[in-house]
Amino acid sequence: MNQYPRFPIIGTPLSNNAIRVMMLGSGELGKEVIIELQRLGIEVIAVDRYANAPGHQVAHRSYVIDMTDGQALRELVAKEKPHLIVPEIEAIATSTLMELEQEGVVEVIPTARAAYLTMNREGIRELAAQELGLPTSAYFFASSLEELQKAIDSGIGYPCFVKPVMSSSGKGQSKLDGPQDVQKAWEHAAAGGRVDTGRVIVEGLIDFDYEITMLTVRSLGIDGQMMTSFCEPIGHVQKNGDYVESWQPMQMSQLAIARAQDIAKKITSNLGGRGIFGVELFVKGDEVWFSEVSPRPHDTGLVTLVTQVQSEFELHAKAILGLPTNVQLKTAGASAVIYGAMDEAGIGFENVHLALSQEGVSLRLFGKPTAFMKRRMGVALASADSTDQARKNAQRAAQTIKAVK
Ligand SMILES: Nc1ncnc2c1ncn2[C@@H]1O[C@H](COP(=O)(O)OP(=O)(O)OP(=O)(O)O)[C@@H](O)[C@H]1O
Ligand SMILES: [Mg+2]
Repeated sequence: MNQYPRFPIIGTPLSNNAIRVMMLGSGELGKEVIIELQRLGIEVIAVDRYANAPGHQVAHRSYVIDMTDGQALRELVAKEKPHLIVPEIEAIATSTLMELEQEGVVEVIPTARAAYLTMNREGIRELAAQELGLPTSAYFFASSLEELQKAIDSGIGYPCFVKPVMSSSGKGQSKLDGPQDVQKAWEHAAAGGRVDTGRVIVEGLIDFDYEITMLTVRSLGIDGQMMTSFCEPIGHVQKNGDYVESWQPMQMSQLAIARAQDIAKKITSNLGGRGIFGVELFVKGDEVWFSEVSPRPHDTGLVTLVTQVQSEFELHAKAILGLPTNVQLKTAGASAVIYGAMDEAGIGFENVHLALSQEGVSLRLFGKPTAFMKRRMGVALASADSTDQARKNAQRAAQTIKAVK
């Protein structure tokens, strides 16, 4: 057994006293977490469903397995004996993670239960709305087209959103404006979910002024006590359920910020464990609604690579290791996504020098082996005196960069 110690002695990677961390999911967010772990002398094992994933390229060892296959996961954990498992994605055999944690084989970040509850919209929504009484959109879970129609007719109304219970990045999600959209949305959900469970959530539309991610860190203070800290709110724009730009800090009323932190505190305290959480919230005036939560760094939080003293990735790495964290903002900033813009393997990027010649601009190119039209391949980052200026600069930089084959 590899019990993770309270105040760890960080050993030497690739030796007997190494602290080993296994990342489940090694995309662009995992890659940045791995780099932070590497900086602290942690031995990192990166796992993904395809070869040469971004995080594979910066880890000590890498594996390609089907992470939804509980047996495959169990065998890899037995072979590598990590102290900590750090999920980076939702599509994992989370019931196996719960077993492994219960058996005392490994500690799951933040907890196996958090990974389990957040992989299915039903688990996390029922916890937030029913158990914790947090404000959410009106919602209903439906297992057939008839049930879906009935739920809409008997209260949810239009416009509304239909989403598969297991999906992310807007996959299988539709906005419905009237009865003509219901069947299409049902079919889209069945085709777009991670697995076709034949179950969807239908949510009433929240007519928000803006939406934010409240990055919330659960970490140990120097006294060994668990503490909760909040990063400055991150504003973002989503298209088809996927983020296209984000900025920090988002200006909010004092009351809205207090409510947002209160919701974030309640949901993260319940999920427990150590690490960073991305709490997604909708805001209208002083009113705040809970939408969902990632028990891990959040894509909109890529902006923190330029805005915070410690990025969300450094915060996650330190929090999971039981080390002190600092959520202080350094400067205003923004991020803008760079897409593949073509369906090709082994693409190139032109005009990187031009993008980087603008003051305050930096860049991440993730190194994904294959591009798709709408696949996120990189991100342009900009710091500036105001978020308005930073947004302009980040978008200009992202547009300057051209994918080429
Ligand atoms: N009930 C709602 N009212 C208003 N807007 C909504 C609602 N549900 C979803 N949206 C919009 O769609 C976006 C994506 O929704 P959601 O976060 O539930 O999907 P997702 O597939 O989990 O996406 P991701 O994994 O990228 O977070 C939200 O950020 C918001 O812009
Ligand atoms: Mg979301």
